[in-house]
Amino acid sequence: MRILVTGGAGFIGANFLNLLVPRHREHQFVNLDALTYAANPRSLDPVASLPNYAFERADLCDFSGLRAVFARHQPEVVVHFAAESHVDRSIAGPRAFVRTNVEGTFNLLEACRELWTPGQGLFHHVSTDEVFGSLGATGRFDEETRYDPSSPYSASKAASDHLVRAWHRTFGLPVRVSNCSNNYGPLQFPEKLIPLMILNLLERKPLPVYGQGLNVRDWLYVEDHCEAIWAIIGAGQNGRTYNIGGRSEQRNIDVVKQLCHLVAEETGTPEAELLGLICYVSDRPGHDLRYAIDSSRIEAELAWKPRESFASGLRKTVRWYLANRAWIDSVRTGEYRRWIEQNYGSR
Ligand code: NAD
Ligand code: DAU
Repeated sequence: MRILVTGGAGFIGANFLNLLVPRHREHQFVNLDALTYAANPRSLDPVASLPNYAFERADLCDFSGLRAVFARHQPEVVVHFAAESHVDRSIAGPRAFVRTNVEGTFNLLEACRELWTPGQGLFHHVSTDEVFGSLGATGRFDEETRYDPSSPYSASKAASDHLVRAWHRTFGLPVRVSNCSNNYGPLQFPEKLIPLMILNLLERKPLPVYGQGLNVRDWLYVEDHCEAIWAIIGAGQNGRTYNIGGRSEQRNIDVVKQLCHLVAEETGTPEAELLGLICYVSDRPGHDLRYAIDSSRIEAELAWKPRESFASGLRKTVRWYLANRAWIDSVRTGEYRRWIEQNYGSR
């Protein structure tokens, strides 16, 4: 199969490619990515020289560039990860979110519709549980839960989900949608809670917990998410939605305390010193209280379930950041942007 992955230089996309390209030499993978601030081509070092992998720098919002990539590679499957993904950034500047997540998804759907005859191809749309809004103290999101997004990010992802389903119902495009909970693991840009806290711990900087730290997220190790998407591509049904979660609900403050404990253990630092870095800061506007996913559909229909426990996944993640300081430094310095321009500027 010829598989086009969008956003493959970002956190989840790179983990997906690093997991699947070496395992599936019979498939050709093309990574289409605009290389925004959130991307790091070095995340793809394990697959960059494999014969079944190719990279195309392109912006989803440039329809003619997108068509050219489609004409060159003639994908049979599209796995759509590319997005602006950080909620806080969407509050500070929502325009890029509407542009990439809504217009970019629209362009991608149109490129597929142009290339594929009706009923041909497969479009897998990677989405989020944030489209469902906030839960109270009880309950879980299932595939029938009403959309009720709170942030510009989640509203733009909700809009993209609706476009994808409309292209299925109206034009017969074969689509599948997955809505997943919070991912964590290697290669995550250090603006998200877990890598941000790990790096601040290593540098003895304050650990900014929003509000009282009582918001709850359901955490899933990134490779478990990638395996779920691969299972849906392999055996899911067209027009169907699958919720993916880790059955691992945690309050933010508890996540931060576990990170203090792990970093203390792994670096031989007194835990009390690290716990002393916790500080409570102003809450995120529109902050959803709680997310929890009911993944019984994907578990029953596709025999998927998460392999990693939160305790073991979090330790692996801390160890990865400790062992990969060069990756971290590279995404945080101006040198990184210069390197991208030198290596990809002309593509
Ligand atoms: P990320 O921000 O780490 O990576 C996004 C990637 O998309 C980057 O490589 C970036 O360069 C690329 N991109 C952005 N705009 C683009 C454009 N206009 N054209 C082409 N490429 C562009 O994101 P992530 O955390 O890996 O998330 C991937 C997908 O999974 C997103 O759709 C996100 O909504 C969804 N998701 C994420 C999580 C999570 O916890 N991270 C959970 C559920 C769903
Ligand atoms: O639920 C899936 C979503 O998870 C994905 O769709 C998003 O792309 C992804 O970014 C993530 O969104 P969150 O807003 O839940 O993730 P974030 O890491 O930004 O924050 C997790 C929780 O931690 C949230 O309740 C806000 C809180 N937080 C976050 C940061 C960055 C803090 O308390 N302090 C912080 O500094």
